[in-house]
Amino acid sequence: MARGRLISFEGGEGAGKSTQSQLLCRRLEASFGVETLATREPGGSPGAEEIRALLVSGQIERWEPLSEALLHNAARHDHVRRTVLPALARGVWVITDRFLDSTMAYQGYGQGVDLGQLSGLAELVVGAAMPDLTLILDLPVDAGLARTERRDDATSRYERMDRAMHERLRRGFLSIAESDAARCRVIDASPDADSVHEAVWNSVRERFGNGAQSVD
Ligand code: TMP
Repeated sequence: MARGRLISFEGGEGAGKSTQSQLLCRRLEASFGVETLATREPGGSPGAEEIRALLVSGQIERWEPLSEALLHNAARHDHVRRTVLPALARGVWVITDRFLDSTMAYQGYGQGVDLGQLSGLAELVVGAAMPDLTLILDLPVDAGLARTERRDDATSRYERMDRAMHERLRRGFLSIAESDAARCRVIDASPDADSVHEAVWNSVRERFGNGAQSVD
């Protein structure tokens, strides 16, 4: 059986990643005939979901930035080993709502952790599970934060961090996209969900052709 593929969605707050993940899973199943798994970070395995609770709630100053980066990497290690790699081995296409680039953007560009140290950690933790495609949903900071305010669960520590941090992480995602252009595509997340989905689908077809069989 062919190994599955790993696609990550990335972006700032309110960019619509979870909606786009669900839409992409349905489209992949219908058009490529593959089995899909939608997962998320921090989280995606029982242990990582427990670590998530420590990260997304409580006071903004709860963690030192490096402690926070290590917690995200601990959660990611568990998620990769327990959920992502086993699914890929079964031929499942895994769609993850956030992955390693979120640590670079939030803890690195946003919170000032050394990018070289974070790259070293990413290599150790992600290993062979680098995404085949990363879709960065880009949105002006104010528009994204306004969308999260309309949600009922706007309690995340990160959504409450200052605007300047959100601007830095947005620029961080764009720098990551520029430096790894073979893997990353930037998608304008301003239009309605169906239009964004069509842009996502175009990138997926451009990367994978017309389905699992035609993939390199
Ligand atoms: P979510 O709201 O997109 O589900 O993600 C929870 C928060 O975690 C989000 O505000 C971004 C943050 N985050 C990081 O700061 N670093 C990371 O590595 C990941 C995966 C998420």
